[in-house]
Amino acid sequence: AKNVGILAMDIYFPPTFVQQEALEAHDGVSKGKYTIGLGQDCLAFCTEVEDVISMSLTVVTSLLEKYKIDPKQIGRLEVGSETVIDKSKSIKTFLMQIFEKCGNTDIEGVDSTNACYGGTAALFNCVNWVESSSWDGRYGIVVCTDSAVYAEGPARPTGGAAAIAMLIGPDAPIAFESKFRGSHMFHAYDFYKPNLASEYPVVDGKLSQTCYLMALDTCYKYFCHKYEKLEGKQFSLSDADYFVFHSPYNKLVQKSFARLVFNDFVRNASSVDDIAKEKLAPFSTLTGDESYQSRDLEKASQQVSKPLYDAKVQPTTLIPKQVGNMYTASLYAAFASLLHNKNSELVIVLFLFSKYENQLSLPLFPHTSDIYNNMQAGKRVILFSYGSGLTATMFSLRLHEGQHPFSLSNVATVMNVAGKLKSRREFAPEKFVETMHLMEHRYGAKDFVTSKDSSFLPPGTYYLTEVDSKYRRFYAKK
Ligand code: ACO
Repeated sequence: AKNVGILAMDIYFPPTFVQQEALEAHDGVSKGKYTIGLGQDCLAFCTEVEDVISMSLTVVTSLLEKYKIDPKQIGRLEVGSETVIDKSKSIKTFLMQIFEKCGNTDIEGVDSTNACYGGTAALFNCVNWVESSSWDGRYGIVVCTDSAVYAEGPARPTGGAAAIAMLIGPDAPIAFESKFRGSHMFHAYDFYKPNLASEYPVVDGKLSQTCYLMALDTCYKYFCHKYEKLEGKQFSLSDADYFVFHSPYNKLVQKSFARLVFNDFVRNASSVDDIAKEKLAPFSTLTGDESYQSRDLEKASQQVSKPLYDAKVQPTTLIPKQVGNMYTASLYAAFASLLHNKNSELVIVLFLFSKYENQLSLPLFPHTSDIYNNMQAGKRVILFSYGSGLTATMFSLRLHEGQHPFSLSNVATVMNVAGKLKSRREFAPEKFVETMHLMEHRYGAKDFVTSKDSSFLPPGTYYLTEVDSKYRRFYAKK
């Protein structure tokens, strides 16, 4: 199989959210702490009728329907998640309900877990399967699903929730460059969930930030080594069009890209111009440890990297800023933002153009998708996946035009990111906190039915109706 990768995608996030600005006022922190300090706009959360299982049922059903995939065509289903509902029964087995009713129980794969990295592990498994001798010619599906919730305190505003489903197969518009990959795996206690009675993690916020940046540096080093060995030339940030990061909050993404620019400066790579070199020169003698602590370096490298950030990273930030940390889904939601943004930019440009160019005015929209697919073809996207504890990989994807329905423009259309963001319902912070309290009681509980009010859920959404006396969970579809 050639050009194995992502053929199609869909994303689901709960329609219920709080504004970070309102949360700042409610929490009594200084104005701007969450919006500017963390760089976040909104935080989506599951109410009592949603969880990681309902969200993944919703997104997998939607993926199959929107791309008209027969459930019998699926031969592997992998789930990445760190939200524990059951210590033995995988989320994958809940999703089998979609397939067994069509007579397909011949589907390999289970769940992968290590903090926010499980989705990437699942994706690599699925891609490896399609590339292997055990592949039977059918598609794979990878699901990333998480509800990120934190105890009250500074980490709480970095919560979020979403599920993403990706269809995996050959001749993909989003193909893996599997040879270009660098990993860093290490034992650390930066973020972990040792208390099995609680959904909340134990988190050392400052350590997790440093672990993330150190993992980024190390992955980039290995990535560059492998690239240079295979291509016979140095890799620099100029060799990729977009950089997508696991996004706990946007500020860390800004710092991460700045860190890569600093890496290129230290490696004397061609992507760093003379002005940037001059600004970064005072930091060239810092030791690794010192460089993580230096506020001046952070400031200087962020300033120097700004134009490149705007071109190569900013288009990936929409959903993570609007929804929050989605754990395993965060990296892929950032990637989805890129496809969405580049598509809408083009639609706007062509629309404006059509107003002045009569000959372009009609059948404009049928052509837009071709132009989009063509413009993005050949572009290289570098992704950085990070899961606390810790596991991290930097890897490379190459965009291709693809064939309908598996084309970049169709993926952007199907995901309908703008429509989903627009039709959300804002909750007051008090209501969000109340929901968190209720969910604390519900976590690990049995024998309850959920509220009958699912009016705010869009049609097609699965929701939890009951957990019976034997902890069995029941879902309905709106
Ligand atoms: N206006 C503008 N900026 C402000 C304001 C304000 N009024 N107040 C504070 N800030 C800035 C701070 O200067 C700081 O910026 P900096 O990072 O550039 O220094 C930023 O806001 C955050 O403020 P802090 O006081 O440093 O942060 P706090 O202790 O409140 O917690 C943290 C932040 C550690 C990210 C916390 O939210 C957390 O623990 N989150 C979960 C862990 C996490 O996401 N880690 C990332 C990798 S691991 C993972 O993915 C889970």
